[in-house]
Amino acid sequence: MRKFTGDQLVLASHNKGKLREISALLAPFGITVSSAADHGLEEPEETEDSFAGNARIKAHFAAKATGLPALSDDSGISVDALDGAPGVYTADWAETPNGRDFNMAMEKTWTLLEEKNAPPPRTAAFNCTLCLAWPDGHDELFVGKVEGQVVWPMRGAHGFGYDPIFVPNGFDETFGEMDPAQKHAMSHRAVAFAKLVADCFD
Ligand code: IMP
Repeated sequence: MRKFTGDQLVLASHNKGKLREISALLAPFGITVSSAADHGLEEPEETEDSFAGNARIKAHFAAKATGLPALSDDSGISVDALDGAPGVYTADWAETPNGRDFNMAMEKTWTLLEEKNAPPPRTAAFNCTLCLAWPDGHDELFVGKVEGQVVWPMRGAHGFGYDPIFVPNGFDETFGEMDPAQKHAMSHRAVAFAKLVADCFD
């Protein structure tokens, strides 16, 4: 396991919600964090069919382009009654010709569950794979998962993506209703991040 010894890190993402959450998680470590956009990077095509594969593409692309270690996040929601969909295609379900529409993606998710008459609770999990890649081609991967259920109607204005329809096990609020600090303490991203810190930062 390689330790992170530098003082600069590129976040290999253009997703504002992820950038906000990962920056908050990195804040205590005194690392200068920049984003892919700060370096004028394009978004590489995510051609793999796994979270790990796509996380690797994004982190290696940014590390090679900037000469700095890069941290990427590939994540998504997997709904059991939909055979794990949307999974790695979570962002794709929101694509429209005018940008991403997550209300549409959440409605699609709920409509498919209704069409299937899926019995409650409509269990699901958020998955996150973090990839820390160095310019020499080395990388480390960390996985986090949080289980819960999909609910309707959408609730809450915090967070991003599918947060308004996901209630984690043991809670009554959706991720969209939760105080962001509470989500940061227990989300799939926080679980993966804790493993990264334990292995690479300590
Ligand atoms: P990708 O990792 O860029 O392929 O996109 C993953 C997608 O999963 C995001 O665009 C979000 O819609 C969704 N997602 C990942 N993490 C979260 C989260 O913490 N809350 C809500 N949606 C999420």
